[in-house]
Amino acid sequence: MAGASQDELKRLVAQAALEMVVPWLTPGCIVGVGTGSTADCFIDALATVKAKFEAAVSSSDASTLRLQSHGIPVRDLNAIEEVAVYVDGADEVNPERALVKGGGGALTREKIVAASAERFVCIVDQSKLVDVLGAFPLPVEVIPMARRLVAKELARLGGNAVPRAGFVTDNGNHILDVHGLAIDEPAALETRLNNIAGVVENGIFANAAPQKVLVGTPTGVRLIG
Ligand code: A5P
Repeated sequence: MAGASQDELKRLVAQAALEMVVPWLTPGCIVGVGTGSTADCFIDALATVKAKFEAAVSSSDASTLRLQSHGIPVRDLNAIEEVAVYVDGADEVNPERALVKGGGGALTREKIVAASAERFVCIVDQSKLVDVLGAFPLPVEVIPMARRLVAKELARLGGNAVPRAGFVTDNGNHILDVHGLAIDEPAALETRLNNIAGVVENGIFANAAPQKVLVGTPTGVRLIG
């Protein structure tokens, strides 16, 4: 894979995730699916084994459409007992497997499906690995009327919250992209941000970090966890 493009690394890591999850699949089981370009590669790979599981639950309207385009049934999360595994990408991953997610704006549904799953596998190309989270602006989903209030509270924490222009989440809310936060303690900040009135969810995935991270590199796929 020397000289592999970022897209090739995404396909490589998606295929590795498929190989990891296939032994966990049973004819009646449900697979949770994330959102974004790496998750799209996983959906395409998952389509090749669609006879091995019953259906998917999806973290966004975009992923639902892609799953359905492959003939994979998509179920309402409230209608199912168990999600065998959740597979999704990330915008940043630190050495403890804490993540920043939400570049695609689907962070709330992603966190809900991740929290519902027995196992959480994160798939990234090597460009997403960081020592400290926060260089990627942290997405925070807010109730529209609370945008200004939340931005003020974030400023108190040292963050510069920029409304994502022209973007409405699948839940009908807005996204603030927060620049300049030092995320030295991801789990504590994740909890603290969710205590601000008007915040629906934030893009730190630390309190329930993935058990496994697969990293696509030009020399192959590396496993963290
Ligand atoms: C979607 O809201 C995000 O959490 C994505 O998982 C994240 O942005 C990674 O996307 P890519 O795989 O497209 O980089």
